[in-house]
Amino acid sequence: MERTGHTKVAIVGAGHGGHALLDLLHRVPSIEIVGIADRNPAAPGLQRARELRIPIIAEVPDLIGNHGASLIMDVTDDPEMETYLHAHRPPTTDILNGSSSRLVWELVQHEFKLEAELLQSEKLAGIGSFAAGIAHDINNPLQLILGLAENLAEERNLTAVHEQANEIIEAVKRTSAICRDLTRYSRRASPHEDVLVPVNGKLDEALRIARYASSFHDIEMIKQYQPSAAVTGNPDELLHVFVNLITNAVHAMEQAGGRLTIETSVLNGQVGVRISDTGCGIAPDKIPEIFEPFFTTKSPGKGTGLGLYNVKTIVDKMHGVIAVDSQIEKGTTFILTFPKGEPTGQEGLS
Ligand SMILES: Nc1ncnc2c1ncn2[C@@H]1O[C@H](COP(=O)(O)OP(=O)(O)OP(=O)(O)O)[C@@H](O)[C@H]1O
Ligand SMILES: [Mg+2]
Repeated sequence: MERTGHTKVAIVGAGHGGHALLDLLHRVPSIEIVGIADRNPAAPGLQRARELRIPIIAEVPDLIGNHGASLIMDVTDDPEMETYLHAHRPPTTDILNGSSSRLVWELVQHEFKLEAELLQSEKLAGIGSFAAGIAHDINNPLQLILGLAENLAEERNLTAVHEQANEIIEAVKRTSAICRDLTRYSRRASPHEDVLVPVNGKLDEALRIARYASSFHDIEMIKQYQPSAAVTGNPDELLHVFVNLITNAVHAMEQAGGRLTIETSVLNGQVGVRISDTGCGIAPDKIPEIFEPFFTTKSPGKGTGLGLYNVKTIVDKMHGVIAVDSQIEKGTTFILTFPKGEPTGQEGLS
């Protein structure tokens, strides 16, 4: 095989193996495909060769003898072809066949799979976790500001005007806080991010935020807190987890009201958080999908389907586990389990 310049490849066999090789090799600038041959004129690789303007050579002796190939790739899986090629190849031409061409075929398949996964992950990194995530987090305070401003336009009572103006100021501060967090995030996570976070306080904070985003009308609240529950993690991210789970629970009870139960526990070195609702429940066949990005049953514009995806990403990062138990028309419980947090020396920053 030539060590410099182009590698000139002749492909023998235009079945699925030959087809995949064409697709892969024609994109490599340092490889030139001098031609492809197959006895079967209807072989799928020959059609592909026409599309790619790669010469189709009718006879194998012509292909291997007259087109300057430095490498012959035999993907016919035919032992007679293997014998023939070894007997008739030009002296400077190498041959890949049998298990070595199968290896190449496997690498080609692997490459295609990786490429597909990469495309998907680029799509998610680009739109999913970033733009749509920002939109999701900024939309909640914006909706609140809109609602309050609409009320203000009609409000005659000066005290109520002051209260609502203050709420607008707080909501704007939260939006700026999100932007500040994102700027910090884009500069890279701060090394002081993981601290010991008291879970109950974060749940109460999340409840306050969730109340802005959704209506708690007709919802009974039950809290059963274990005072010492604390986990190690980023307090803002943990808040995000709780706000999403509570908001989902409240949405599930939107139609008929219900009971929201929040429990924390400490057992065997683990901290448990249970968020239960008596809402619409999740169909068993949908449960495997709810953590997928963009899975939503909400009407367009109401949900991005990124809430639980973000929740799962954060819980995984904290070495926690998230489980779900749900029954249609009865309700849903999300169960989080984290390793018990140990003091990190950064307490007080949350
Ligand atoms: N507590 C719950 N009760 C019933 N269904 C739920 C509950 N939590 C989640 N789901 C289902 O899982 C889907 C995905 O939830 P997720 O939080 O990821 O997105 P979303 O709430 O639809 O939109 P977003 O959170 O982005 O605004 C929901 O659309 C809903 O069908
Ligand atoms: Mg949600």
